[in-house]
Amino acid sequence: MTTSSSPGKIILFGEHAVVYGQPAIAVPVTQVNATCTVHTAAHRGVILSAPDFGQRFWFSETDRRNPLAAAVYAFQDQLEDPTLLHNLTITVTSTIPVASGLGSGAAIAACIIRALARHLGRADLATDTAVSAMTYEVERIHHGTPSGIDNTVVSYERPVYFVRDLAVSDPATHQRALDVGLALYPSALETFHVHTPLQILIANTGISAPTKESVGDVRRQWLETPAPFNQLFAACGAIAQEARKAIEQGQSGRLGELMWDNHEQLRQMTVSSAALDTLVEAARQAGALGAKLSGGGRGGNMIALVQPETETAVRKALLAAGAVSVIKTTLTST
Ligand code: PMV
Repeated sequence: MTTSSSPGKIILFGEHAVVYGQPAIAVPVTQVNATCTVHTAAHRGVILSAPDFGQRFWFSETDRRNPLAAAVYAFQDQLEDPTLLHNLTITVTSTIPVASGLGSGAAIAACIIRALARHLGRADLATDTAVSAMTYEVERIHHGTPSGIDNTVVSYERPVYFVRDLAVSDPATHQRALDVGLALYPSALETFHVHTPLQILIANTGISAPTKESVGDVRRQWLETPAPFNQLFAACGAIAQEARKAIEQGQSGRLGELMWDNHEQLRQMTVSSAALDTLVEAARQAGALGAKLSGGGRGGNMIALVQPETETAVRKALLAAGAVSVIKTTLTST
């Protein structure tokens, strides 16, 4: 029996702009995770089971549209002999809320891939780089044009400063790259030092919002009016760069200001929502250093940077303003 777990994640700065080659910062959230257990079984084929999602099926009878099967296919694609996958039961459980910006899909794929690689003695396919690349292939099926940040942070399990390798800046060229299915990955990836631990509350609006739709809407607007959107993306990138410095130098107050600013930019991209704005405003009123939506937006989660003396008040304010749950994560250097 082999077990592997992958954490959830939040994007601290730079979502959406990261799709267009700007830097973004994401960190793992270990308070929630996905776990995969692989057993050698008496049956000949491969059974996939996810009791939390009410799923149990034969791998051989399922195609890549099923997210669990897609992870197994991504792994199988790397095997010289695909018939090596047999006599297995693969069980997945997860505490990561789905479609809420916490990286549930990527974490589930990453833990399946790593557990399979370890169970079959393929250390070369269990490395962070290999797991991230295979998880990216799964993300591509479900998200269309993912930047690669989700698979990276859940596979490497550490804070990342991430820049997608995108050598194209004009919409026509970008569109041509997408049309031919060009994989715009791997990308530049750096980890960074966290000077002073950061306390972050993650509040869920309870509204599930597919990332694919908000990413598609931003792309449509960008294609219609590239100049203002390119400016907005560049401004988000500048904020992510400055935020990294603020995290490295322990300037929490400045970091908070950058969160308000980044939220405003995301509003201008039309990816916020009334529920997200209400929670961000509640965090402001209750004394948070900063707050913003996190991930694809339109629903899902927002994050608030708090201090020990404001944590309780901000948590209460978020719940009173309609959050269905609030969890806390502490960002430290790994
Ligand atoms: O909704 P999430 O947490 O999967 O985040 C998506 C982040 C985007 O920048 C909006 C898209 C991407 O592929 O990077």
